[in-house]
Amino acid sequence: MTEDARIVRLADYRPPAWRIVRTELAFDLDLDDTVVAARLELTPGESYAPGAPLRLDGEELALLDIAVDGQPLPPARYALDGESLTVHGLVGPCVLETRARIHPARNTRLEGLYASRGLLITQCEAEGFRRITWFLDRPDVMSAWRVTLRADRARFPVLLANGNPVERGTLDDGRHYAVWENPHATPCYLFALVAGRLEGIHRDLVTAEGRAVRLAVWAAPEDIGRCGFALDAIERALRWDEQRFGRTYDLDVFNIVAVQDFTMGAMENKGLNIFNARYILADPDTATDADYLAVESVIGHEYFHNWSGNRVTLRDWFQLALKEGLTVFRDQEFTADLHSRAVKRIEDVRLLRGRQFAEDAGALAHPVRPVQYREINNFYTLTVYEKGAEIVRMLHTLLGEETFRAGMDRYFADNDGRAATVEDFLAAHAAVSGRDLAQFARWYAQAGTPQLRIDDEYDAMRGRYTLRIRQHTPPTPGQPDKQALLIPLRFALYGPDGEPVAAAAEGDAVVRDDLIELTADVHEIHFDGLPAKPLPAFNQGFAAPVRLDYAYTPAQLGRLARIERDAFNRWEALQRLATGVMLRTFADPRAAQAALSDALGDLLDDDAADPAFVAECLALPDFDTLADQVPQIDVDALLAAREELLDLLAEDHADRLERRYHALADLAAGGLDGPAMAARTLRNACLGWLARLDPHEALAQRQFDTATVMTDRLGALRCLVRFDAPGKDAALAAFRERYRHDPLVTDKWLTLVAARPQPEAVEDVRALLASDWWTPTNPNRVRAILGSFARMNPVAFHRADGAGYALLAAQLPGLDAINPQVAARLLGSFESWQRLAGPRRALAHDTLRGLDGKLTSRDCADLLARLLA
Ligand code: PHE
Ligand code: ZN
Repeated sequence: MTEDARIVRLADYRPPAWRIVRTELAFDLDLDDTVVAARLELTPGESYAPGAPLRLDGEELALLDIAVDGQPLPPARYALDGESLTVHGLVGPCVLETRARIHPARNTRLEGLYASRGLLITQCEAEGFRRITWFLDRPDVMSAWRVTLRADRARFPVLLANGNPVERGTLDDGRHYAVWENPHATPCYLFALVAGRLEGIHRDLVTAEGRAVRLAVWAAPEDIGRCGFALDAIERALRWDEQRFGRTYDLDVFNIVAVQDFTMGAMENKGLNIFNARYILADPDTATDADYLAVESVIGHEYFHNWSGNRVTLRDWFQLALKEGLTVFRDQEFTADLHSRAVKRIEDVRLLRGRQFAEDAGALAHPVRPVQYREINNFYTLTVYEKGAEIVRMLHTLLGEETFRAGMDRYFADNDGRAATVEDFLAAHAAVSGRDLAQFARWYAQAGTPQLRIDDEYDAMRGRYTLRIRQHTPPTPGQPDKQALLIPLRFALYGPDGEPVAAAAEGDAVVRDDLIELTADVHEIHFDGLPAKPLPAFNQGFAAPVRLDYAYTPAQLGRLARIERDAFNRWEALQRLATGVMLRTFADPRAAQAALSDALGDLLDDDAADPAFVAECLALPDFDTLADQVPQIDVDALLAAREELLDLLAEDHADRLERRYHALADLAAGGLDGPAMAARTLRNACLGWLARLDPHEALAQRQFDTATVMTDRLGALRCLVRFDAPGKDAALAAFRERYRHDPLVTDKWLTLVAARPQPEAVEDVRALLASDWWTPTNPNRVRAILGSFARMNPVAFHRADGAGYALLAAQLPGLDAINPQVAARLLGSFESWQRLAGPRRALAHDTLRGLDGKLTSRDCADLLARLLA
């Protein structure tokens, strides 16, 4: 394997030997050649040893000059290699100046300074700044920044960097310059610049603290008309953070920029967030309702990082979840407060259970705070982000909103301007709550999804109801033995009248109102004075990210779906019912199916229920969620069981589905308000069911032909493609031509083609890869074609002859040479190969082994080694 053996360990953390208290950069920008002049004010740090050399990170930089305290440095005083610049003989505070040449247009990794459609863009998290200049590229080195950008005015009329604009002017030869100052102590991974032909829209407001701020959104001229929603969303995020967390904005400007070539979703650079265009651009003709909500949520996420990530940053990359888990929790709450809390929770749990649980059960499982890495880019995972957010949510549940808020205030106050750790975060919450959070901290250290097994017993003579709750976390790679976690288990007991019963609890766990705090492997809890055996409901709101095993009967689940006060759990009861039917785990399968069908029928009849919630209930567990429930993944059996049940239910409820579909038409014709969006969601869900039934394909065709917004157009097209309707090809072609010049919408039809649940999708994808639509340097395009194929198309990806695996694998070496992070994500689609049943396991294994030696990046080499370990 061509991978270096570098392993970075949390246990080896040492504070920096040097600090860079102030950084001045001057860029002479151009697409092919850019010159970066850096002036670093250095002072000795905590672990400074007199006489020890200074080692700065730097990659793919050509050194032009180097000087210390104004004197050119003789070659004997420094050494350069492909990864670093080492300077000898520095004593005490000094100023190091370097000039380097770099080549943005050749940078296909999209880390450091790169070109995208004539724009110059930076991306520095996690370790990209070292591709711009030599620096101590670690988050605990925080600097004040002054940045000068110089460029040709015609080609780069807009020049943006972090912080506040302080000066601009004209230079010779048609060039101009701009100077930006960021006074806040900021690590280099938050550095950013953007230069090019951009248009902007802006809005001025005054923060709760009285600071005048200009919010601005920048995009290519052809896209600027689709930025209004994003600008509104920034304002909503800013106000929400003031109100819910008491956090105010701290610069005179807040800029966000939309770019088409971007590896991730977006980046929280101080005062200059850079976004994948898909999370900014939105109008009704090109964006679905889900896209709008995603734009708002990602804008919120990046904005909220200004406190959780920027003002309080990370000591080291092992603490990644400290900013990401916390900020995901904050963006989830933002969406929940602005829209439907129940629907938001359902969607987050769907992602968690469908994808993060699989990660936690597969070859790539790792703790929310890993203890070692070879490549930090491989830890921007669902575990760090989503499970990281679940941990914060549990803390919120344990402490309650008021104490949690006090803990957050304490955390921000104590760590402002510092590089913090998970321990600092927990210490703040421990201090305000008086609680010992030592056991709770295990959530950060222990990988794997805990399993709760609950048995109960009712003693009619004594009126005593007993719960016995066991927790168990299965072994994960490198962690054979697990310890008991502190798990907040919400619960309710329902009486025969469907009302919650209040009964005093007694036992070996702390029980407060509706919350049991599990701390041991086994707990026993009694409730006395119950005249009848209650119906228990557990884990309301999915307060704990655990698997829960309690032997509900279909009748009990059908009842819970109606009486449970917690909306999430009503949805959950239906999911359980459907899962049990599909996996054939109920003793009486007919009764189970009938219970499910009845419950869905009642929901469809309930015109008073939130249509968005009804739509969530109609979306029965997907393939990933089912696969997560079984020890061995029998792809064909899971897919067949799912289709069989959906077909039967569609038959059962054809009339109801049709009635709702038509009845919601008027409401669905509205704009972007909640009721209209909810109506469109349910309507399109109904259409998805109806399109299974032969004559109803015409309905999808009609919706496609008459749609006025993308939600309805794409919803209809999805049905036509999904069920191979006669008009499928014509509709796809019409859609393709209509949006031929829009890369983001083009990605949507490519996704439909690549995710079409037919084995022939392998050939369709192969054809796309040979077409002009395939632009492997654009991450969105790679994801639309190959990401959708590998992650959203189990039928074709897991094709029995292994052609799906082979197709993906064949692309990986080439993609790895272009953009290792994108290639590594695709490689991660094999994370569950060890659980595949039948010949697929060997096929996948052989495919992975065949890649050995062909993937040269550290990203892919690390992942492949872990997949094959
Ligand atoms: N920090 C970004 C976020 O908000 C994600 C990201 C990571 C972007 C690495 C680019 C590179 O979640
Ligand atoms: Zn983030």
